[in-house]
Amino acid sequence: MSDGEPSVPELSIAVVPGDGIGGEVIAVGKAVVEAAAARSGAFCVRWSEFPWGCDYYTQHGRMMAADGLDQLRRFDAIYFGAVGWPTVPDHISLWGLRLAICQGLDLWANVRPVTFLPGIRGPLRNTALAGQRWVVVRENSEGEYAGMGGRNLGARGRGGEVALETALFTDVGCERIMRYAFDLALARPVRHVTSVTKSNAQRFGMVLWDEVLERVARDYPGVTTDRCLVDAMAARMVLEPEGLSVVVASNLHADILSDLGSALAGSLGLGCSANLNPERRAPSMFEPVHGSAPNIAGKGIANPIGAVASAAMLLDHLGYATEAEWIQDAIRSTVADGVITPDLGGSSTSAEFRDQLVGRIGHAQKL
Ligand code: NAI
Ligand code: MG
Repeated sequence: MSDGEPSVPELSIAVVPGDGIGGEVIAVGKAVVEAAAARSGAFCVRWSEFPWGCDYYTQHGRMMAADGLDQLRRFDAIYFGAVGWPTVPDHISLWGLRLAICQGLDLWANVRPVTFLPGIRGPLRNTALAGQRWVVVRENSEGEYAGMGGRNLGARGRGGEVALETALFTDVGCERIMRYAFDLALARPVRHVTSVTKSNAQRFGMVLWDEVLERVARDYPGVTTDRCLVDAMAARMVLEPEGLSVVVASNLHADILSDLGSALAGSLGLGCSANLNPERRAPSMFEPVHGSAPNIAGKGIANPIGAVASAAMLLDHLGYATEAEWIQDAIRSTVADGVITPDLGGSSTSAEFRDQLVGRIGHAQKL
């Protein structure tokens, strides 16, 4: 081995902090991963940062480099913060970066765990939820975010414009996300999949979804299934969430339900996620569920749990399950000791929270 070459496997991670609190929470996640790497000695990390986002747009007229996807393909994984700032219309920033990456790299499964942490009082009265974990599995390549549609003012004149926003459902797209959800359920204590649609009102794509569900479910006799319309599901997550395990839903529905899940667990800052290409033809992307939160950006008080837990998912994906577990244990032990950021009713800063996590990596008691 030549001088300077790492003696342990090197993970090469592309970092896209993006806008607002994206950079703040990603910095905490990096520090925690570094602590896990140092403690374990099993790997080291080479971070490569990309300055893409709304400032980049202001300077270059685009959200990411023209060959951005090709640049990203070289990495083992992508660690993403959040995108969006009031200077750029949200549909331009989201489509120009986050959706461009997810769709361009075919990261078709968006896995969004909802974890009820010890010591955190969420808005739900039912405290028996502590320790529960649901996973929202979101179809991430088509559905309502297929990007198909158009606007036509034509001869109709002002006030008469028409716009189409077409949802796309394919047999292949439905089947692969459902198989992913069922496989995930097989590995969980509660082997149950709840499929969410609005197939009473939307009778083409969502009825296809239901039919594919029925077909796929037959291949998984060990997994129980139920179906729930999305409006009823919103109520069920609040009023009787017990028994939920894996929830599989379309791009839009799962986007909404995972924010609801994070909020029920205590804060939008808690939600973590993995945008996966399960075939591993492209690097997967790990990001908190929340956005760039311009209202608290720069104050140093963003809750980094979603970003840190996403980093744990990243390590798990790359084969470092023990180190990922250390990170989850450190999060649970820190919040159980009452060290929490203002969104959860505490007074800790992001930096104080980071220091607590770093100090507990590999030492925290299992809770
Ligand atoms: P948001 O998630 O940024 O914020 C909603 C509320 O939750 C705000 O009150 C915010 O302060 C709070 N919050 C979010 N994350 C938090 C954290 N880690 N710690 C403490 N509080 C937190 O959603 P919003 O306001 O709808 O969107 C802001 C911008 O973010 C928009 O430009 C939007 O397009 C973008 N966005 C980007 C996403 C992404 O990059 N994946 C996802 C959602 C929104
Ligand atoms: Mg969202």
